[in-house]
Amino acid sequence: MRVLSGIQPTGRPHWGNYYGAIKQYIDLQSADEAYYFVANLHALNTVREKHQLHQFSWDAALDLLALGLDPNQANLFIQSDVPEVSELCWLLLAGTPMGLLERCVSYKDKIAKGLPVVAGLFAYPVLQAADILAYDANIVPVGEDQKQHIEVCRDIAKAFNHQYGEVFVIPEAKILDSSAKVPGTDGDKMSKSYDNFIEIFESPKKMKKKVMRISTDSREMHQSKDPETDHLFQLFSLFGSESEVQSMADLYRAGGFGYGDIKKQLAEAAEKFFAPAFERREELASKPDEVKQILGDGAAAARKKAGEVLLRAQKACGLK
Ligand code: ADP
Ligand code: TRP
Repeated sequence: MRVLSGIQPTGRPHWGNYYGAIKQYIDLQSADEAYYFVANLHALNTVREKHQLHQFSWDAALDLLALGLDPNQANLFIQSDVPEVSELCWLLLAGTPMGLLERCVSYKDKIAKGLPVVAGLFAYPVLQAADILAYDANIVPVGEDQKQHIEVCRDIAKAFNHQYGEVFVIPEAKILDSSAKVPGTDGDKMSKSYDNFIEIFESPKKMKKKVMRISTDSREMHQSKDPETDHLFQLFSLFGSESEVQSMADLYRAGGFGYGDIKKQLAEAAEKFFAPAFERREELASKPDEVKQILGDGAAAARKKAGEVLLRAQKACGLK
């Protein structure tokens, strides 16, 4: 089984990204073959400042490695280091109906948000299809929001196979479990777009400040409270040990506690939880050559595979 997924380097990851996506990618890295990449070609459509795109891409690679992506198990690389994918994208574009792309929700959303209407944004799902098909990926772990893009990829691959013979493996989406949506500091879903997020690699001091600002209700101290409906408790349960979460739930039900104490405990638990990742990230940042080597090795393995698939596709459609 081959697993593949990409992460756009459009900003630093927050707690919601970790539980809703990154952790689950990393849990799948022990597949026979795993490919994870930083989708900088996709981000090029929205991140127009060159230093920022470069920095975000580097940060994304460091973040993934620090959070547990193991280069001995998975190939990690930067998307643009595999030019075969862009070439494959062109082959796919020739057979992609305009209507298929016009129906894509994420494109329509971005237009609605007033982002400049560039052709790259419109063709985005075709590049994503090339990313997936270039590695004969069977399983593509993604968030619910990407489901439609995987469907488009399947449609494009099936149309190509129908026209030219069995060239591409038809992939399956593995929709990540974000049923337990991580709440933000205001209780709504944590998101970069709402300014209610806490970044994973924020300094502990800044993180603590944000935690102390988490909204709470006007319950009196002596009153008991249902932990299941409280976003502060939900956040604590992400980081606390099983027994800590149990004691916290008992405390909620008993009442007689102040939210300030709970927030302090949350900040401490989060700091402790991410401490090994912080340490690892610092270590990686101090050894950029080592990281470049990891990304270089990942790209070499990816190019080998993508080169084989590209040749197969080129031969099938009369380019070789
Ligand atoms: P954002 O909403 O901050 O822009 P993205 O859309 O870039 O986040 O999401 C990247 C991945 O992280 C997606 O797979 C998404 O499902 C997951 N994710 C984002 N926010 C949350 C959250 N609050 N809870 C669970 N998963 C989340
Ligand atoms: N579009 C994905 C996102 O925004 C990122 C991505 C690019 C991707 N290429 C991919 C995900 C291929 C899975 C497979 O999250």
